Amino acid sequence: MKRVLSGIQSSGSLHLGNYFGMMNRMIKYQNSNDLYCFIANYHALTVLPKPEDLNKNTFNAVCDFLALGLDPNKCTFWVQSDVPQVTELTWILTSLVNRGLLDRATSFKDKIAKGMSPNMGLYSYPILMAADILLFNSELVPVGNDQKQHLEMTREIANRFNNQFEEVFVIPKEDINEETKLVPGIDGQKMSKSYKNTIPIFDDPNLIRKKVMRIKTDTTEINEPKSIDTPIFQLYSLFLDNYEKKALKLRFETPGMKYGDLKLDLHNKLMDYFGPYRLKREHFLNSPSDVREILDMGAKKAQNVANEVLEKVRTAIGISVK
Ligand code: ADP
Ligand code: TRP
Repeated sequence: MKRVLSGIQSSGSLHLGNYFGMMNRMIKYQNSNDLYCFIANYHALTVLPKPEDLNKNTFNAVCDFLALGLDPNKCTFWVQSDVPQVTELTWILTSLVNRGLLDRATSFKDKIAKGMSPNMGLYSYPILMAADILLFNSELVPVGNDQKQHLEMTREIANRFNNQFEEVFVIPKEDINEETKLVPGIDGQKMSKSYKNTIPIFDDPNLIRKKVMRIKTDTTEINEPKSIDTPIFQLYSLFLDNYEKKALKLRFETPGMKYGDLKLDLHNKLMDYFGPYRLKREHFLNSPSDVREILDMGAKKAQNVANEVLEKVRTAIGISVK
């Protein structure tokens, strides 16, 4: 049984990339592993959200996970800011990190290229992420491909600490699924809240349909075979088993397929797949005090582990005066 941990930023509606890249795998892991899952609202601060949006997005992300089947009795589930010990560890690790390490972070470069504020939070975000992982003795971290570099940085920071002080930290490894590591958005780039190209899981069905209808397709004539190396093929395949994928491939290869029909089918698939979870989500959205209770229980469990690790760290670096 492994300690598995991952988090997700509460920076907007959760989408198919989040679900297939990370969330559904986390939910499966709760049955066979020691699962730690949290909503990263300190991370979401780096994009300078309006307070009411941050609050709403965090609550919604919690309800999304619970609706999709995360069971708070089988795992430890909390909101990042309910375990503020992580900010102390972040500060402690900060002095161990050379500027050069953060300068290499491609996610920071991508984000500022997209016009985001180059604030210090966004810049030093990988240190907060390392603290998230190391504070809980995590062994495996399920993520999409975009987070691979952050895991490499986490290992580098952990090794530096262990070598310089004491062997306090477990060295974690990313857990990336080849088939779902990079879910494309409707424009063909990586699906991401920050690129405004997402298909959300739980938004209004009409809005989801509009997004699906906007998936970028090529201009191949109806009577010609279509390429399967396209976002529409990849997105549709997420909902299919191997046998069904073969049938879809044949549909693409057979002249006469209309992208419009395919998109309507995909929209129906999506609605069918997430339909039952929508009802559960409504229930959680309408039960804020029950949700708060679940989060309090999770925060307590997470704090117990965090305090233990943090005490070892404090002793190792000589910060606790005894
Ligand atoms: P976003 O890029 O939309 O802000 P996050 O950074 O909050 O999403 O990602 C949360 C988790 O979902 C991470 O593990 C990330 O790797 C995964 N993820 C996000 N987008 C995708 C995608 N397009 N394909 C695969 N995994 C993804
Ligand atoms: N940085 C991750 C993302 O943007 C979210 C995250 C924060 C995370 N802390 C983490 C993921 C710790 C895994 C482990 O998707």
